[in-house]
Amino acid sequence: MSPAIKACIFDAYGTLFDVNAAARALADELGPQWQALSELWRAKQLSYSWLRSLMGAHADFWQVTEEALDFALESCRVADPALRQRLLDLYFSLACYPEVPAMLQALRRAGKVTGILSNGSPAMLEAACRSAGITELLDHVVSVEEVGIFKPDPRVYRRMAERLDLPPEAIAFHSSNGWDIHAGKRAGFFSIWVNRSGQPPERLPDPPDVVLRDLSEIPAILGAA
Ligand code: LAC
Repeated sequence: MSPAIKACIFDAYGTLFDVNAAARALADELGPQWQALSELWRAKQLSYSWLRSLMGAHADFWQVTEEALDFALESCRVADPALRQRLLDLYFSLACYPEVPAMLQALRRAGKVTGILSNGSPAMLEAACRSAGITELLDHVVSVEEVGIFKPDPRVYRRMAERLDLPPEAIAFHSSNGWDIHAGKRAGFFSIWVNRSGQPPERLPDPPDVVLRDLSEIPAILGAA
């Protein structure tokens, strides 16, 4: 299988970038509810993306991220515009998980094409890649804005294969989001679920080929160690 994999494509938020890092950085000010706030922020961000897709009311992921934060802050009874702005600034330039740079370097050394396929807007992705120091390690950064609808719409995954000019089975797709990895498998990708938080499997069609806890084993699995 491994030599047949030509490209390694990653979801961004939750897979390469730590979506809880923004609220964690302000935990002293948010208090013990920082984690609940972060989880609600993320859950609303995703559900707004799906709802907007179903409603035919697309807005980019930055707007969705701001609106989800406003819902989460009001739910947690936090009314502090300066704190809201700092959370957004931190989210715009998130850190990556510690294993990410070495993993991407190993894939590149082995001649694999690397890239991101994300709901994130081009500006968000550019800023996060730059702040995480991984811009030079990625050959392609594809935003759903090219298609105008969020994942898991099948057109998004097809766009990635078109951009790479590869058959889907030559593409390894990695995501920490169960729903995203099922959709990637459905599109024909070799799919690796990075189950960072030990979630039970999703009850959806097209389960992943491989399940891991983080990305450190990826070069070995894809024959690029
Ligand atoms: C992304 C979200 C789904 O980066 O995490 O596309």
